[in-house]
Amino acid sequence: MLGVATNPKFGDYQANVALSLAKRVGCSPREVAERVIAHLRVEDCCEAPTLAGPGFINLTLKPDYLSDWLRRIEADDRLGIVATTHPQRVVVDFSSPNIAKEMHVGHLRSTIIGDAIAHVLEFQGHDVLRLNHVGDWGTQFGMLIAYLREVCPEALTTSDAIDLGDLVAFYKQAKQRFDENPEFKETARLEVVKLQSGDAESHKAWQLLCNQSRREFQVIYDWLDIQLVERGESFYNPFLADVLADLQSAGLLVEDAGAQCVFLEGFTNKDGDALPLIVKKSDGAYNYATTDLAAIRYRLGQDKAERVIYVTDAGQSSHFAQVFQVAKRAGWVPDTVPLIHVPFGLVQGEDGKRLKTRSGDTVRLKDLLDERSHGPARIFRSVWKQKGVRRQMSLSSIQPKRWGLGQ
Ligand code: ARG
Repeated sequence: MLGVATNPKFGDYQANVALSLAKRVGCSPREVAERVIAHLRVEDCCEAPTLAGPGFINLTLKPDYLSDWLRRIEADDRLGIVATTHPQRVVVDFSSPNIAKEMHVGHLRSTIIGDAIAHVLEFQGHDVLRLNHVGDWGTQFGMLIAYLREVCPEALTTSDAIDLGDLVAFYKQAKQRFDENPEFKETARLEVVKLQSGDAESHKAWQLLCNQSRREFQVIYDWLDIQLVERGESFYNPFLADVLADLQSAGLLVEDAGAQCVFLEGFTNKDGDALPLIVKKSDGAYNYATTDLAAIRYRLGQDKAERVIYVTDAGQSSHFAQVFQVAKRAGWVPDTVPLIHVPFGLVQGEDGKRLKTRSGDTVRLKDLLDERSHGPARIFRSVWKQKGVRRQMSLSSIQPKRWGLGQ
């Protein structure tokens, strides 16, 4: 009966009940409203009710009443919010930057929104698992390791040999080489095989690269005071084969041009044919989607999550819709467990386009935090110092001549 007023000039709340009652009691809506008002006992919380239009009753809260409540809420440890009577186990998957790449400004959004959601749920009394689904696996590591083996082998054996800025630059160079040079592509592929087969030396190199990035991410998390449990993509490696086995026994797995995939419902190409979600590529590699399937299976099966929330940019909406659909069809998701993607939009520059640096690169989160405000920048730097993180080493001092890469 009581709705929030559509326009503040009508007060705080509005009741339209007189309009629907009029016929039944056999008099005009205004008359009904007048009689309702005459009997209303709201003087302890509202100004005198007013009648408007054909028979609306408008109510305005008294300032004293509001301030009294605010004072009570302020004095309450829980700010007037009662804890839930049905605590749930909730996974919030947020931040999730990628190893060997800088955290960019979009990761700031995921971090802040995810942290806020986690805080609200925790305050309501839910048991929240804050997961950092770091991109720490994939073919890019083969490429990076192969490249570093040539240009900076000590980065693969010694911690702190290079910093993240250098690593990112090496990553870009490696990618370029990978795209241009078929021979290097093959070397990189062999590196991936070595890494995936558990070769000790490759594993150590991979760990060093991850640690390097991890340290820099942590600087930002410390500064923003963010708590996260890292559980990167690599965590789910041992479960990828189980994902395929489950899909197989659910009768969902189809081989298409050498790849293993699941044909999706409601996702079609322009000819109206169902689109496939590839879960194992023709070269045998698993992908981002397979890892997300394994993550759902694990979070529901092992973590016993009753709700799973993902915070990423809107560009990943269809990825999540597809993965959620396959997980449900595989029978891993009880009807009571919602899988929720919380999408956010592009971080835009003043021109309304994707925020970029003048040279066209994505803006690094670290630079943005440094540039936008001098206060945080100072805190940031002092955290940096406390942590003993070395200042950026200039890239020109370590390549290409020093590593005999004359090109
Ligand atoms: N690493 C991804 C990115 O940087 C985000 C991962 C989000 N979480 C997930 N379970 N896929 O965009």
